[in-house]
Amino acid sequence: MNDETMYILAIDQGTTSTRAIVFDHGGQIISTGQQEHEQIFPKSGWVEHDPQEIWRNTRKVVGDALVGAEINRHQLAAVGITNQRETAVVWDKNTGEPVYNAIVWQDTRTAKICDELAGDEGADKYKERVGLPLATYFSGPKVKWILDNVEGAREKAEAGDLMFGNTDSWLVWNMTGGVNGGVHVTDVTNASRTMLMNIDTLDWNEDIAKDMSIPLSMLPEIKSSSEIYGYGRKQGLLIDTPIAGILGDQHAATFGQACFEVGMAKNTYGTGNFMLINTGEELVRSENGLLTTVCYKIGDNKPIYALEGSIAVTGSLVQWVRDNLGLIKDAPEIEKLAEQVDDNGGCFVVPAFSGLFAPHWKADARGAIVGLTRFHNKGHIARAALEATAFQSREVLDAMNADSGVDLTELKVDGGMVKNELLMQFQADILGVPVVRPKVIETTALGAAYAAGIAVGYWDGEQDVIDNWAEDKRWEPTMDDETRERYMRLWNKAVERTFDWMD
Ligand code: G3P
Repeated sequence: MNDETMYILAIDQGTTSTRAIVFDHGGQIISTGQQEHEQIFPKSGWVEHDPQEIWRNTRKVVGDALVGAEINRHQLAAVGITNQRETAVVWDKNTGEPVYNAIVWQDTRTAKICDELAGDEGADKYKERVGLPLATYFSGPKVKWILDNVEGAREKAEAGDLMFGNTDSWLVWNMTGGVNGGVHVTDVTNASRTMLMNIDTLDWNEDIAKDMSIPLSMLPEIKSSSEIYGYGRKQGLLIDTPIAGILGDQHAATFGQACFEVGMAKNTYGTGNFMLINTGEELVRSENGLLTTVCYKIGDNKPIYALEGSIAVTGSLVQWVRDNLGLIKDAPEIEKLAEQVDDNGGCFVVPAFSGLFAPHWKADARGAIVGLTRFHNKGHIARAALEATAFQSREVLDAMNADSGVDLTELKVDGGMVKNELLMQFQADILGVPVVRPKVIETTALGAAYAAGIAVGYWDGEQDVIDNWAEDKRWEPTMDDETRERYMRLWNKAVERTFDWMD
């Protein structure tokens, strides 16, 4: 199908905002709608979103994107959904009301639950089965927290009245009619972030659900990443339009970056950073702190797996510099501030705001700014904040090289922060490999659009994604080895200072 009047809509339900983007057959952006939602911090370490606000914003941005593109819903061949993963929503299927705010992936309130579940067997208790260590990051323990702490929730769950989902499931259920027959589904990539799905068979693991006291009736049906799950309904959104793609945002970006061959990797610079390397049909188990995850599954094809290095805080550190320190007025301004100094002057910022994720997995780490003297000014803090993203990405790349036994030769990058030239050059320098930015940096939404478009025959398959991908800019490393290793030595020392802060 290559009708020039037809388009694909992608809905990208992210951590800080929800966006709707209309793409044409060439994978080019026609229009975008975007709306931020409130970040709710009820206590230190807790992060919540209002699911109803997210649903309202979704309807608004979809309308805005269609108006911007000057098209109507009849010109949409399909809709694809991509989303912040792990964030847990639990709602009443009879009223459509969430029983509690969404508990966001960054939230650390489940540290005690995770410790109790780990018991004597330790954090890797379920790793063989689900590919993940027990950590506050994942959905299962968040659902347990809601059922244990919200009055009446457990009784309702046991009576079969509650549904759980990441925000993909929440949106699809609402779009397809909600209480009026909405479909309750998720895809394999989102399910692989719950700690509840067998990573090899792609079914829910009943024993782990039992350990977490989560009734199976709450869980969505697990589908592939590219098939028709249902159609928009009058009581929902986009009447009669097929909803045909779901991919967790990082998996979508890997797809949109055309990382289809084993060993191809991408790094997305969003609220956090997430580096995924395609391992093909092989399920690789990490020895170095990475996650085993489903990369994507197209219809009835075999699943493709990935290793992932998840970094909790990168772009959100820039927001913190803006909102909590007030050093800049908007996020792009950090580059100008950082350029006022020649280097970090020995100052390092370790943003362990949600503990540290890959490759450390330290829930009780807390952030630190180290190496300060009277010499330092806000330019150094800005520079060190940007560099923290590059250092954390290097730690993850080292883990990937160690796990795969092969050194990555270049890294594809995407996400908002890749517009930052200073960061991209420093990233190439610290990695010691070229960093490559594509022309369309909205690869997350693009990947979801491709998944949906392939399901309905708008695109034929992966080759279309490869043909549409185009390089925009490449940064070559210019730093000498000695300097690079000195930076990493100091960074490692700084990281160690953040450990065990909650003791
Ligand atoms: O695992 C969390 C991730 O999916 C969130 O991505 O881009 O919303 O920060 P982002």
